[in-house]
Amino acid sequence: MNQLINCSGDTLRIKAPAKINLHLEILGMRSDGFHELAMVMQSIDLSDFIEIKGISTSELIISSNHSGLSLGDDNLIMKAAKLIRTSSGRTDLGASIHLIKNIPIGAGLAGGSTDAAATLVGLNKLWKLNYSLQDLESMSAQLGSDVPFCISGGTQLCFGRGENLEKVDGASARDVMAIVLVKDPLVEVSTPWAYATYKKVNSSKYINDEGDFHVRRQLLRNSNWLNPLNVLSPPPLRNDLQEVVAPITPAVKNSLKFLSSLSGAVSLAMSGSGPSCFAIFPSLDAATSALENKKAELKKYGLDGWCCTFNMKGADCV
Ligand code: C5P
Repeated sequence: MNQLINCSGDTLRIKAPAKINLHLEILGMRSDGFHELAMVMQSIDLSDFIEIKGISTSELIISSNHSGLSLGDDNLIMKAAKLIRTSSGRTDLGASIHLIKNIPIGAGLAGGSTDAAATLVGLNKLWKLNYSLQDLESMSAQLGSDVPFCISGGTQLCFGRGENLEKVDGASARDVMAIVLVKDPLVEVSTPWAYATYKKVNSSKYINDEGDFHVRRQLLRNSNWLNPLNVLSPPPLRNDLQEVVAPITPAVKNSLKFLSSLSGAVSLAMSGSGPSCFAIFPSLDAATSALENKKAELKKYGLDGWCCTFNMKGADCV
């Protein structure tokens, strides 16, 4: 739709990478009704793109190449645009925003969250609002728990609801690592449902003391595989939601079965609340040939598959 030029022009193109969870540990319940989490999130090189152009009226116009998406007030891009405009007090500003959707929807890959993050980054630049990345992260928490992570992306520890971020030292050396990612195109999992199901089964094990939360966060920070000296040691992977989602979601069971048949996979898990699942490989070549060798099985299971590397950035101009 728009002429594409880089971030110094009047049409901006922002890359919005998906994420996977290398570690998703549920600690307990918070007083705001959300779960207290200890996570490591990782951006991956499977991305949506947002093209943003200034317009002379105060309208916010959203379009997309994906016909199945609502483009109204419930769309996170619209919510993000309204949020940054209201926060800046510049209600006279307008923009035309086009979304090129590549990340599967309802997949546990933060597709909607990364689009919202890219919208904040892009409009901040287009409208010359001069918010810092930290300002955008704080502002974005009200849009969703994963949005703050998606602003800077890379590899980060995420605590609280997911919005308290800590960069992982030395993680950029991990950019050679790659994944095979699979998803049943006919299945979506609702995040509230996944957390509610987990709570039904596990709430008796929840901890609720800030001191105990602190101990668990510290244990994660000190994990061997997060030590900068061990940067190439493969993440062991943990996803507490997988425990409850996988047994009752055939698409997840099939995905994990498929991934475990790939040769050279180091470890595998579900991402977020599912249903997408991934296996880690030491390089993109290893991931690509493992998937290539099992193309027929992938089709038999009815799964879509991608190979991509870890990505060391979040929403960014291209
Ligand atoms: O923040 P977000 O919109 O992604 O959350 C969607 C839902 O997932 C929440 O309404 C809640 O049911 C659940 N959730 C949670 N604890 C979190 C994050 C999400 O219970 N830390």
